[in-house]
Amino acid sequence: MKFIVLNGSPKGPVSVTMQYIHFLQKRFPEHNFEMFHVAQRIRKIENDENTFREIIEKIKNADAVVWAFPLYVYLVHAHYKRFIELIFERNAAESFANKYTVIFTTSIKFYDITAHSYIHAVCDDLNMKVAGAYTADMPDLTKDKERKRFTLFVEHVFQVIDGKQPVQPQYSPLNWRKFAYKPADVEKPVSTRKKRIVLVSDAKAEDINLNGMIQRFQASFAEDIKVINLHELSIKGSCRGCLKCGYNFECFYDGKDDYRQFWEEELETADIIVIAGTIRDRYLSSLWKCFFDRRFFHTHTPRLMGKQIVYLISGPLSQIPNLRMILEAYMELEMANVVGFISDEFGDSQDIDSLISNRTADAVHFSVEKYIRPETFLGVAARKLFRDEVYGRLRMVFQADYREYKKLGLFDFPQKKIRLRMLNGITGILLKIPIIRKFFQGFMKQGMIMSHQRILKKLYPEE
Ligand SMILES: Cc1cc2nc3c(=O)[nH]c(=O)nc-3n(C[C@H](O)[C@H](O)[C@H](O)COP(=O)(O)O)c2cc1C
Repeated sequence: MKFIVLNGSPKGPVSVTMQYIHFLQKRFPEHNFEMFHVAQRIRKIENDENTFREIIEKIKNADAVVWAFPLYVYLVHAHYKRFIELIFERNAAESFANKYTVIFTTSIKFYDITAHSYIHAVCDDLNMKVAGAYTADMPDLTKDKERKRFTLFVEHVFQVIDGKQPVQPQYSPLNWRKFAYKPADVEKPVSTRKKRIVLVSDAKAEDINLNGMIQRFQASFAEDIKVINLHELSIKGSCRGCLKCGYNFECFYDGKDDYRQFWEEELETADIIVIAGTIRDRYLSSLWKCFFDRRFFHTHTPRLMGKQIVYLISGPLSQIPNLRMILEAYMELEMANVVGFISDEFGDSQDIDSLISNRTADAVHFSVEKYIRPETFLGVAARKLFRDEVYGRLRMVFQADYREYKKLGLFDFPQKKIRLRMLNGITGILLKIPIIRKFFQGFMKQGMIMSHQRILKKLYPEE
């Protein structure tokens, strides 16, 4: 069979992900795997229509397509995202229709689920048949057991394709609402209360609703707020994956474009940040993705602590829970507070006006009160994963993270808690005795609320 491999690594052939494809070439010489380094060569693909068409022609004539990519900031790399946008912009979707496909990623398993969900939804939008999806941890290829597992997976994929087995889509097509938002004049603008507010967008002139939402948001304040359009910044490219940042947060692009200065001088000094964008395929634009990728110069260390975040989104956000999850998780990991999402999906213009006014007031209030909502699983689980990774196998490369994590007290391993360890040790022994275990289990429900009841009694002794 003939497979076209679309490589999503910005490092091109010098990529961990591509080593798995080399393995397949050697392990299954009867099949053909042709690679296209689309993320690395995106400028050429974008600027030279022939290069793009060559790839599409190969896809047309192939038995299957392999989406092979590294995880980049909850998703695919910005350049891979751009390639996906080009497929739709240049009406090339038909060449993918009814074709079998395989999704393959390498990562450290940090939100591999959101990247898989994204690309699977894109495949469904392209009417492709997903024959299988595989998420490899970076070094899996070096382990016998993992190579066996991967081989079994690939053999199964061959069977599905060879047998022309049926495959069900997982995601319904998106339904875009036809609605023109017309913001009214703001009657009572609120005070910023000396809070620094920065609104960042990628709005183009044709993004009518997004521009309306931005205008309304801006007008909701009695004082000026800063509005920045990403199109007006010099951003030379997305993250190259070179990891120069690992040692001391230096970036290859430092001094070459505006990104670091913009991040440090505008965003890190803001109290309230508004992120405004229009949905493109199943995410925001590739420009927004480039913005999020480039933030990686601060690697895994939170940099927006205590800030209030408002998302203004034009497009069917409620139909893409995956996108909402990414945007929430991103800010939980930054230790910022998501005040809310406002989209143009529901209600009339007046409803949206009112939403914007209310969220505006909330953002200022929360900022004054320093309110950060409790973290959900999205942030808690992610932080534990990074804690272990930065302490362990990532430390060598990400030394700046290690130093910052120590400073921020993020190495909060349970084994450091001596009292808890002693208690666990003692109860572990005592509960081996059936009579004590019986008493303990009978006391379980009451035991779980004992400390809560004690504090309520202390706070409200008279009741
Ligand atoms: C900027 C950047 C962002 C990354 N984001 C993620 C991520 O969100 N989740 C994850 O599990 N790994 C992430 N990684 C790790 C890569 O996915 C992993 O190292 C991958 O194997 C690299 O593959 P490649 O050599 O083919 O590019 C990231 C790496 C870089 C450099």
